[in-house]
This record gives sequence, C-alpha cells and structure tokens, in this order.
Amino acid sequence: MKATTAFTVMAMTVAASATNLFVSDYNGYVNTYSLTAREGNYSLTSIFNTTECAPNPSWLTIDTNRGLLFCMNEGLNTVNGSLSSFTINGDGSLTHVENTTTPSGPVHGVIYGNAAGQRAIALAHYTGSAVTSWLLQGGGRFAENQELFFTLPQPGQNPSRQDAPHEHETILDPTGQYILVPDLGADLVRVFSWNQTTLQLKGLAPLQAPPGSGPRHAAFWNPYGTSCENCTTYFYLVSELASTVTGYAVRYLPNGGGLNFTQVFVSSTYGILNKPQGNAPAEIAVTPDNRFLVISNRNNTSFGLPGPNGTVIPSDSLSTFRLVDDGTLVFVQLWASGGSYPRQFSIDRTGSLVAVGNQYSQNIAILARDVATGLIGEPG
Ligand SMILES: *[C@@H]1O[C@H](CO)[C@@H](O)[C@H](O)[C@H]1NC(C)=O
Ligand SMILES: *[C@@H]1O[C@H](CO)[C@@H](O)[C@H](O)[C@H]1NC(C)=O
Ligand SMILES: *[C@@H]1O[C@H](CO)[C@@H](O)[C@H](O)[C@H]1NC(C)=O
Ligand SMILES: *[C@@H]1O[C@H](CO)[C@@H](O)[C@H](O)[C@H]1NC(C)=O
Ligand SMILES: *[C@@H]1O[C@H](CO)[C@@H](O)[C@H](O)[C@H]1NC(C)=O
Ligand SMILES: *[C@@H]1O[C@H](CO)[C@@H](O)[C@H](O)[C@H]1NC(C)=O
Ligand SMILES: *[C@@H]1O[C@H](CO)[C@@H](O)[C@H](O)[C@H]1NC(C)=O
Ligand SMILES: *[C@@H]1O[C@H](CO)[C@@H](O)[C@H](O)[C@H]1NC(C)=O
Ligand SMILES: *[C@@H]1O[C@H](CO)[C@@H](O)[C@H](O)[C@H]1NC(C)=O
Ligand SMILES: *[C@@H]1O[C@H](CO)[C@@H](O)[C@H](O)[C@H]1NC(C)=O
Repeated sequence: MKATTAFTVMAMTVAASATNLFVSDYNGYVNTYSLTAREGNYSLTSIFNTTECAPNPSWLTIDTNRGLLFCMNEGLNTVNGSLSSFTINGDGSLTHVENTTTPSGPVHGVIYGNAAGQRAIALAHYTGSAVTSWLLQGGGRFAENQELFFTLPQPGQNPSRQDAPHEHETILDPTGQYILVPDLGADLVRVFSWNQTTLQLKGLAPLQAPPGSGPRHAAFWNPYGTSCENCTTYFYLVSELASTVTGYAVRYLPNGGGLNFTQVFVSSTYGILNKPQGNAPAEIAVTPDNRFLVISNRNNTSFGLPGPNGTVIPSDSLSTFRLVDDGTLVFVQLWASGGSYPRQFSIDRTGSLVAVGNQYSQNIAILARDVATGLIGEPG
C-alpha cells in the first residue's frame, strides 16, 4: 500500500552560511528548504519548489561535485516513471535540464563509472522489476544505455509483496567496482559489474536472503575507514518484510569476479527489543564518524512524542547500533522519528543533525545527534 503523498528528505548540502535540504514529495513537488539554527532551535524555510519531476518524485540523487540533481518520478498511477535532471544554483533553486520516460517505478539511483571519464546513473525500478542505466553526458544531460528486466519463476512467501521482483536500491560498493541491488520481491541482493567502455551492467552471483525477508536498503562499512579489495568490508542489509538487519563480511573474488558474503550478525531492527507488529524498516546509513548505524522503522506508531497540553503525538522510530570491528552490532537506542512513516533520513556531514522525512505525517523532523555517544535526541 502506498500513500499518494510523501516527504522524502534526500540530501542536505551544507554551505558556509546555511544548510539547504532538497526534499522530494509524492505530492509532485521537489522543494528546497533552508535550515537555520538559532540557540539550539531549528527552523526550515521553503525557498524553492518545482513540479518538473511530477507526478510522484520518489528519490533524489545529488552529484555534489558537479552541482547536479537527478530526480526519479515513481509514477504511482501511471504505466511509466521518469528521470529528470536539474542543475543546482547558488541560491538553492533548481534549473530543469531533461526529462525522460523510464520503465515503471524508479525509486533509487546511483552514479557510477570513471570519475574523470564516462559516467552513468543506474536506477532501481520497484514496480518495473528492472535496473536501468543512463549515460551522463555533462551538464545534466543523459541518454539511455541499458534496461535489464527480471522475472520470478513463482511468487515468494509473501505473495502480496513478492508477486514479482522489486528492485529497491542501487548501491555502489566502496571500491567503486560493483553495484548491489536489494530485490524485495526475489529475496536477493543482485550484484553487477560493468564493461569499462560501455558501462553496460553484467549480472554476477547474487547474495541470497532468507525466503520472505524482503531486502530493501543496505549500507557498506569499512571499520578502518579505507576502502580496497583486501580491506575489511562489511555489508548491512535491512529487510523490510522480516524487519531485520543482517551483517555480512564481504570478500572480493579475484579478477572482478564478484563478491562473497558470510553472515556475521542478524537481529530485529529494534535491537534487543521485541519487534512491534507491522514494523516495516526503510532506510539505513552509517554515520559520518564511521562508528554507528542508523535505521528507520515505519508503520508502528507506538512511540509517543509530547504534544501540546499533555497530549501524545504518535511517532515511528529510528534505531541506532554501534558498529563493532568484527562486524557485529550493539544496540544503542530507539528514538522517536518525529512523525509517522520515516521513509528516508539524511545525516549532515558533521553527524550532529538528522533530517527525517516522515511520509504519513508529512513533516521533516530535525533531530540533534550526539556525535560522541551516537544518541539521537531533541534539538538543543
Ligand atoms: C527555542 O525553543 C524554546 C522551546 O520552544 C523556546 O522556549 C525558546 O524561546 C526558543 N529560543 C529561540 C531563540 O527561539
Ligand atoms: C511553491 O512556490 C511558490 C512560489 O514560487 C509558492 O507560491 C507556493 O506556495 C509553493 N508551493 C508549495 C507546495 O510549496
Ligand atoms: C516527464 O515524463 C513523465 C513520464 O513520461 C511525464 O509524466 C511528465 O509529465 C514529464 N515531466 C515534464 C516536466 O516534462
Ligand atoms: C514503460 O514501462 C514498461 C513497464 O515497466 C516498460 O516495459 C516500458 O519499456 C516503459 N517504456 C519506456 C519508454 O520506458
Ligand atoms: C566492452 O564493450 C566493448 C564495446 O562493445 C567491447 O569491444 C569490449 O570487448 C567489451 N569489453 C569487455 C571486457 O567485455
Ligand atoms: C589481496 O590479497 C591477495 C592475497 O590474499 C593478493 O594476492 C592480492 O594481490 C591482494 N590485492 C591487492 C590489490 O593488494
Ligand atoms: C564464499 O565463502 C565461503 C566461506 O568463506 C565459501 O564456503 C564459499 O564457497 C564462497 N563462495 C564463493 C562463490 O566463493
Ligand atoms: C505496534 O506494535 C504493538 C506491539 O506488537 C501492537 O500492540 C500495536 O497494535 C502495533 N501498532 C500498530 C499501529 O501497528
Ligand atoms: C502496517 O501494519 C499493519 C498492521 O500490523 C499491516 O497489516 C500492514 O501490512 C503494514 N504495512 C506495511 C507497509 O508494512
Ligand atoms: C491548550 O489548552 C488551553 C487551555 O485549555 C487552550 O486554550 C489551548 O487552545 C490549548 N492548546 C492546544 C494547542 O490545544
């Protein structure tokens, strides 16, 4: 089930004087908000909006070095989705460059290829059961490169959500050699390498997730902060249907042959607490200090926030885990996400603020974070 509207906080860009947040909303708008801090209080001011990624902007991918923003329109009530590009202007406004029809339901994109040469953006298509690649041609222009469609021999254990493959995210590995794609419908994390000249993707052996678990989003972690084939590397997978976070030790196979995964940890995304009924975790991120993992939990508003006059405002939650060098996780905290259905969150570069896009309550919560302890709390 999908709501027709959603706030998705996609990225925070930090400039000297102010912080701008780019927010995509299923209601059709991409908004830029300016975040200002005054004596520990934070306020968001809308400074720009556009409907040029309408009707259902689902995800924003920012090409920070080049000042570009790519927006995916999921097309909730249309056969197809679309990919739009924008240049990011100094004042936070966006100038539309291009718009192209795509296979159904793009929900995530990642830029890959040769940093100084040919690059492309790979999209995950949830309803379209596809991964597509678009060659970047400079200034935000792009052209179709490849469309890969997947099928399921039979529905998964959860027939209503696993009727077909559902590609949910495209993730670049830390060495920039592979793209990983959690597939919620097929209980797989697909692994791709690519031809260095054409940037066309080639499927390799996938990571098999437990039947019915529903892989959704994931994050890599290098405990020593360095990324290389022989560096210690872990991969943390959030599975929406099982409500779990699973840690894998990653080994690089020789000659670009793919990745080998060994499970080293699994728990409820609620950590040591019982998973509440209906929980559907969504986003996962390693904090900028490289010491903690944050996960958003949706669809169980059992968390209460103090409201006016002693009332309680229902809220979902964010879980924080401490990352241990052997790949295991230690549960640290469960804290209110500041609203209902936190589909996405972004942590600023200092690690001291978390912006949460709460889809059902249609709000962006700005939460303070203690970089030393990893604890999330009220701003100020
Ligand atoms: C910050 O928020 C608190 C609580 O709402 C309020 O009492 C205080 O006056 C605010 N401070 C400023 C500088 O706005
Ligand atoms: C979009 O921006 C215009 C001004 O350019 C403003 O009038 C309008 O209220 C904004 N709409 C939304 C949904 O933010
Ligand atoms: C972009 O393409 C989509 C799908 O073809 C279409 O629905 C949408 O109106 C287009 N947007 C713009 C701004 O041209
Ligand atoms: C529209 O979406 C369908 C279903 O995903 C796909 O087969 C078709 O190629 C798409 N059309 C375009 C122009 O991308
Ligand atoms: C990459 O693609 C080019 C152009 O199609 C082809 O000539 C080349 O052999 C490919 N490289 C590999 C390693 O497959
Ligand atoms: C990684 O380690 C293997 C042996 O464990 C070695 O053969 C290989 O050269 C190393 N690769 C790099 C890039 O250092
Ligand atoms: C992955 O590693 C495990 C244990 O290290 C090993 O049993 C398995 O054969 C490996 N798989 C591949 C494809 O290399
Ligand atoms: C949240 O989980 C609790 C405990 O499992 C359950 O009693 C409650 O009904 C759930 N609430 C929602 C909104 O799903
Ligand atoms: C939300 O929770 C309800 C009640 O537990 C459940 O029926 C529903 O499938 C859940 N929705 C999602 C998207 O997980
Ligand atoms: C809180 O209660 C006071 C006194 O009953 C009332 O005047 C006020 O409107 C209430 N505020 C809210 C936000 O409900």
